[in-house]
Formats: sequence, C-alpha cells, structure tokens
Amino acid sequence: MPTPFIIDTDCGIDDAVAILMALHHPAAHVVGITTLSGNVKRENVTRNVCDLLAYTGYADIPVFEGASRPLLQDAVLATNIHGPTGLGTVDLPESGKAPEAENAPAGLARLLAKHPGATVVALGPLTNIAITINLYPEIVRQIGSLVIMGGALEKGNVTRFAEFNFFADPEAVDLVFRSDIPVTIVPWEACMASRMNREQLAQAVGNTDRKGKLVQDLQEWIFRYMEQRYGEAFTALADPVAMAVALDPSVVWSRHDGRLKMDLSHTALRGASVPWDGGGMNIINELDMEAFVSLLQEVFTS
Ligand code: RIB
Ligand code: CA
Repeated sequence: MPTPFIIDTDCGIDDAVAILMALHHPAAHVVGITTLSGNVKRENVTRNVCDLLAYTGYADIPVFEGASRPLLQDAVLATNIHGPTGLGTVDLPESGKAPEAENAPAGLARLLAKHPGATVVALGPLTNIAITINLYPEIVRQIGSLVIMGGALEKGNVTRFAEFNFFADPEAVDLVFRSDIPVTIVPWEACMASRMNREQLAQAVGNTDRKGKLVQDLQEWIFRYMEQRYGEAFTALADPVAMAVALDPSVVWSRHDGRLKMDLSHTALRGASVPWDGGGMNIINELDMEAFVSLLQEVFTS
C-alpha cells in the first residue's frame, strides 16, 4: 500500500528529478505539492511544478503556493545553478495548471488532517514547514515522517559551513528542529556520493521514455555550469538522494541517531548545522550508490 507523500519544494533542477521519482515509485502516492522561494522565485517554482505535473500526466495533483521569502532574512536564490526559470535549458509546455486557492500552510494542514501519518519530503528551505507548525501545531502529531534534504556536517556548498536549504532560512530550520516532528536529515555529504557524469546519468535513467530523457535534459544546465566552473561536467543529485531515502530506506549505507542545532549567528557560521548533545534525529551518513542507481533505473527505465 503506497504511503501518502507531500513534497515541499523550491523546484529547481534536482527537485524536478525528485518529484518525478515520487510520481513513478510504487511506495509513494503523491497527494500534494507545496512550493516556496529558494533556488528561484516562488512564482517560477510554482509554474515549474504545475507544468511538470501536467507534462507527466499528473495535473490532478494539487499544488499550493507558499513562502515568497524566508522568515526574517532576505531571499537568497541559486539561479546560477538552476538557470533563470529554475529548470535550466528545459522549456516545458505551458500547462495552464494553476495552484490551489489555499496557500501552502493551509494546504499542508488540510492534507495532513486527511492523510495522518503521511511522509513529508522537504527539498528546499524550511520556511513553509515552520509557518505551518506555527499556524497549525497539530501537524507535529500528524506527520508520519519529515525527510529533509539539508545541512552539511563537514563542508557547506554555499559558505564554508552552510548548505543552501539551511542557509536560505536558518530560523525556519531552528523552529522545525525544536518541534517534536520525527525528522530524517539527508545532508550534503550523503548527497555528494551521487556525483555522476553524463554517461553515468544516462545509464541510470536511460531514455526509454520521455521522463528519462527529461532528466538528462534538465541536468544539462548543471553539467555545463560545473564544466565551466570546475573544468569537469558532473552533477550531484541532492534532492533525488533525499527522495530515494524517503521512498526506500535500503538506499542508506549508514546513518546515526543524533541531534543538530542551527547556527543563527550573523557571522561566517550562520546556517551551519552544529552537532549537539542528545539524539532523536535520524541523520544519514552515507548513501549506497549501487542501490540508489538501481532505484533510479527502476523508476526511469521500467
Ligand atoms: O544544497 C542543495 C539543495 O539546495 C537542493 O535542494 C537544491 O535544489 C537546492 O535547493
Ligand atoms: Ca531543492
């Protein structure tokens, strides 16, 4: 019996791949998607999600638009990595699908009341989740599991210490961490194991049908960006790793029970995930790359 999934996303390139995985994996029944500003502006994120759902035959899945900016600080975007629209060089057909009238916190609360025990997968900053906890505290008991792509335990990808999703809204992360929601954290280090070149990606997702081809087209912007910046064409599928953990925990090679705190200082450490005393958080250490690739092949080539 598939688990109800709600995806909270700042739909950029890797988010789009993760959403495609959830739509086509037997373990998940996607009952809704909430959007917010992150990689690109909220309006682009919402458009990307609506057009992606329509393009893949899932236009009936409701989309709820959320936060236009972080709780306190100004928005930081990542258009360099994801392109001006958020989907790199890919121009999906304009679907005309619109988000629901309800905003993301209201939509999330309604979906969790209807589907208690649902899995929520957070692929962007945690602003929507934090606001929803504030407005609808009952969701803390209704969420079955909150799987978060975020944090860096050794080296950040935006600053020396901070990963993008946590850096984008540290106060939101702090509020979520201080709630009693059962969280699984998939930090940047665990995602970096998914590093692939064009040939490895083609092998993993194939182009037997258009969703595999779409994944390769989506990643092309990142390959070109990495080649220009680092001299090597590679991609790291961060959100797809977090989604894989939510869909099938057997892709996890190692994990530990720990606790992280968010650095909220206005110093170079801001947004850093600081290991702390105590436990209660399921923190993923390493990915089983072979199992991850098998899951991609199962989803994209079967
Ligand atoms: O640091 C990687 C994360 O930031 C991913 O979720 C990516 O989509 C960006 O949001
Ligand atoms: Ca993301």
